Amino acid sequence: MTRRLRRHRDFEISLQIRRDEFIRPPRDAQRNWLLNRALTEFVWDLENLDALAKRFVAGSDEHRLADRTQAELGDDEIMEDWQTPIMQAMADAVTDQVGDVLEIGFGRGVASEMIQAGAPRSHTIVECNDAIVRRFHDWRERHSAADIRLIHGKWQDTVDQFQQYDGVFFHTYPLTEQEFVDYVASSVTFAEHFFSAAAEHLRPGGVFTYLTNEPDSLSREHQRLVLRYFRSFSLQKVSVSPPTDSRDDLWADSMVVIKAVK
Ligand SMILES: C[S@@+](CC[C@H](N)C(=O)[O-])C[C@H]1O[C@@H](n2cnc3c(N)ncnc32)[C@H](O)[C@@H]1O
Repeated sequence: MTRRLRRHRDFEISLQIRRDEFIRPPRDAQRNWLLNRALTEFVWDLENLDALAKRFVAGSDEHRLADRTQAELGDDEIMEDWQTPIMQAMADAVTDQVGDVLEIGFGRGVASEMIQAGAPRSHTIVECNDAIVRRFHDWRERHSAADIRLIHGKWQDTVDQFQQYDGVFFHTYPLTEQEFVDYVASSVTFAEHFFSAAAEHLRPGGVFTYLTNEPDSLSREHQRLVLRYFRSFSLQKVSVSPPTDSRDDLWADSMVVIKAVK
């Protein structure tokens, strides 16, 4: 049994490794280095989380109970205004190069408008909610000269209609309580369930962008997950001002936006 203890003024971490071959590189010094690194990083992460926790707003989780697939939603229920800077950062990432853009989730069309400002060659939007699709058609009329295509349905049910793109913009929300459990509670990032579809439909060098719930950096687990599907990535920390009574339940005053490159 290997034991390690870290004492901190606010907490204590005790590690007991039961299996002798667990984390067993060729030399003991290497093993010590790996274990020390892991513990130091955990201590450091806890200290940072303590500081970060003070920057969270209370928010709410009431919306989670209702099935939102075909709900008639007001603007704020689709996306609150304070998320606009996040949309801008993601739209900038996905229109970095002129090309074909795939956007998942039309919502209020805030990001779609920003993507159009970046003059993509084509812009394909996937949206499942019929009431939001009606909003899409109104918006589409104002961009009659642009190559804008709609795929009506859940992306999971329409993925066979996807082509190859230079940019993929992902911004949906969990539609049901079950999706919340499967995609939010069980993963370091909600976007994970879309990673393989994004990678499959991006041309080499193409860009995938999504928002995280990580306020100030990217966890090691999250980085490994991205690198399983993408060649490289960059982060942008976007400052936001969510109100205390935000409908969302996990927001602080900044948010990391990812730009992953295939
Ligand atoms: C937060 S809103 C998007 C807001 C949008 N980015 C904007 O700037 O207004 C999420 C949208 O994704 C749609 N959506 C959620 N899950 C989906 C899925 N599985 N397939 C397609 N659309 C989905 C919702 O209906 C909603 O319109």
